Amino acid sequence: MKIPFAPPMIDEAVIKEVTDTLESGWITSGPKVRQLESMFNDFVQLPASVCVNSWTSGAQLVLKWWGVGPGDEVIVPAYTYAATALVVLHAGATPVMVDINEDFAMDPSSLRKALTPRTKAIIPVDFAGWPCDYASIRNILLEPATQALFTPTNQLQRTLGRPLLMTDAAHSLGALYEDRPAGLQADIVVYSLHAVKNITTAEGGVIGLNLPEPFSNQEVYRWMKINSLNGQTRDSFERAQGKSWRYDIVSDGLKINMPDVCAAIGVAQLRGYDNMLLPRRRRVAERYYEGLKKYSWAQLPPLQSSVAQSAYHIFPLCIKGITEVQRDEIIDRIETRGVSVNVHFIPLPMLSLFREKGYSIEDYPVSYAKFSTEITLPIYPQLSDVEVYHVLFAVIEAYSAVTGNEAWG
Ligand SMILES: Cc1ncc(COP(=O)(O)O)c(C=O)c1O
Repeated sequence: MKIPFAPPMIDEAVIKEVTDTLESGWITSGPKVRQLESMFNDFVQLPASVCVNSWTSGAQLVLKWWGVGPGDEVIVPAYTYAATALVVLHAGATPVMVDINEDFAMDPSSLRKALTPRTKAIIPVDFAGWPCDYASIRNILLEPATQALFTPTNQLQRTLGRPLLMTDAAHSLGALYEDRPAGLQADIVVYSLHAVKNITTAEGGVIGLNLPEPFSNQEVYRWMKINSLNGQTRDSFERAQGKSWRYDIVSDGLKINMPDVCAAIGVAQLRGYDNMLLPRRRRVAERYYEGLKKYSWAQLPPLQSSVAQSAYHIFPLCIKGITEVQRDEIIDRIETRGVSVNVHFIPLPMLSLFREKGYSIEDYPVSYAKFSTEITLPIYPQLSDVEVYHVLFAVIEAYSAVTGNEAWG
């Protein structure tokens, strides 16, 4: 049996939506992008959403809008994909890394200690689809001491009066926090629609705007649309609709717009997300949970609590008491049974780029403990029960074979 890690869900509905777009004569940014933005507004209950060509480019645009630059700091978890910190470097600023908690989410007490007068934004990550501890993060951001420390350098920053909370929701479309879409906890939430994500456009991202009063999310939406298209005031679709040919370039915008042919995939998938794709992911996660909870060596990720519900993006299993070498041996053995697993993530301080900049994994003990014992099991809607049981069998067998322990031990 061959079980790939994260194949995209391309069904008849997706093929039809993409074919319609190809046949419509309009393949770059146009009506499908507008439709996907409107579907995101409805799904996440956002005032405005901007489609772009990746999480990375979207987050870069947000930091540009917020005016982050040299001398500024942005707080990120040490345990994430590199893009979360790379966008800070692209802005010319410094990523300040903090450790995580047992649930893989940014540790609020480390966040508090990392705040300085240079902190301009915080990017917590809803790792594996599990929402961060937003109640604590928001409390810290709203504390008078945090606001007193904040040193705004432009009008937008003066208006907010505290660091921007921009969630990395690459994994968490569909997650809930306090019974509402988790994205609503942030000022700005950025989703990834990369090929392996819960909803995909092959490559893509969505910037969800949820800024508090007195910001106008519609005005920020217009800024983001212009600045995701070279700072140009009119896109070619509007021109094709008969609007004047005359346009202006009003800023040094990025060129990161999403094409309609990609948006079409997302439109088809998002339509069936709540009723079909997300419940199927949940079923897989629950089967893993049920299958592993009886083993004392298996540390299982949180899926649901009285406050939060996961988006079941991946299943990060940690195995108690093993070394990094044993973890790698377990992965090799699982893979001999045709099951593709992964490790999410190598903590940023262990990657050459960040190590050479002086970050050290010794400063992030929980991140290292998680990484060295973590194996990511696949979750996707197409996984059948038989395949899920095969994954479980492969994991349990590999644990015993590598550690020499009884699975029941
Ligand atoms: C946590 C996290 N953040 C950001 C990204 C970057 O997303 P994209 O590939 O859409 O730029 C990823 C992608 O895997 C991710 O896992």
